[in-house]
Amino acid sequence: PFGISVVGTGSAAPETVVSNDDLAEIVETSDEWISQRTGIRRRHVLAPDESLASLSTKAASRALEAAKMSPEDVDLVIHATSTPDDLFGSGPQVASMLGADNAVAFDLTAACSGFVFALTTAAQYVRSGSFKSAVVIGADCLSRWVDWSDRNTCVLFGDGAGAMVITATDAEKDALLGFRMGSDGNGACHLGLNAEADGVSLGAGKEGGDGRYRKVTMNGKEVFRFATSRAPETLSKLMEEHNISGEEVDWLLLHQANRRIMDSAARRLKLPKEKILCNLDEYGNTSAASIPLALDEAVKEGKVQPGQLVACCGFGAGLTWGGGRLPS
Ligand code: ACO
Repeated sequence: PFGISVVGTGSAAPETVVSNDDLAEIVETSDEWISQRTGIRRRHVLAPDESLASLSTKAASRALEAAKMSPEDVDLVIHATSTPDDLFGSGPQVASMLGADNAVAFDLTAACSGFVFALTTAAQYVRSGSFKSAVVIGADCLSRWVDWSDRNTCVLFGDGAGAMVITATDAEKDALLGFRMGSDGNGACHLGLNAEADGVSLGAGKEGGDGRYRKVTMNGKEVFRFATSRAPETLSKLMEEHNISGEEVDWLLLHQANRRIMDSAARRLKLPKEKILCNLDEYGNTSAASIPLALDEAVKEGKVQPGQLVACCGFGAGLTWGGGRLPS
């Protein structure tokens, strides 16, 4: 058995920036309401002619650059997304655009927990010796799937991509200390991006479905309640299992959904607010991209240093949640 080592991170966001004031022109809202209730001030949005795959490729390519690794040396690419350009999966296309011609690539869907789920999945392949290296990407473009006339949801989301390169190392040097994952389909009704179908005649009186996707629906209060309990619970169990005290945690990196969720989790974990990594004001909730995007920025800013302990937890639709001591 091997351990994993994190050798590079990268991220990318679209150029178009939409401010809270911009949104106040299309729905009844205000900069004050959005920033006070969520901490979000701006979000980046893909242009109609841009693809999510190109954004993912940019993030992954920056991560490989940081790792000083050639794309041909990558064995595995996992593309965590709920909003692929192609519902059959965009991972293989991303790998080809990246030049990772020797890698196998696939998509993984777990909404805002997607990056954590993809990282733990990739880590198992590397730990077992099946693959020596992997690029894990979290990317989403929820701007394409929110109802821009619904102020309850449209103000929350933005687009982005983040990536991490991991390689095999000695088992005792494993950077991923532990992880916990969970899901509860009973809560699927609280946050959805659902398919629906009209009837279509298939001859001989038979009928099939002519499908399309509806816009994002959300029960904000339920999701808020779920997030503020599951995220700290997941991390406190992990800390207990691995005998890690609050003082030993250098950074708290939660899925970037709402500043109030992060503050509440920090309070429950008895961690000072200064340990929270947050870039929500600039990007909003970028779903699977939020954790690797925030991590990459914190690395580039010199906040997260090699060897530091980052307690990380994603949570979101499904419902799903997952946390780990993120490798740094
Ligand atoms: N601007 C102005 N008013 C608004 C807006 C808005 N953008 N949105 C809602 N309101 C109104 C509501 O209509 C409501 O009015 P009413 O009292 O007249 O009915 C009022 O503000 C209060 O609404 P609440 O829902 O009580 O506001 P709350 O403080 O709970 O904040 C929020 C709402 C921000 C959505 C919060 O519940 C939240 O962050 N929930 C979690 C959402 C989340 O994280 N979702 C993503 C999960 S990740 C994933 O997997 C995609």
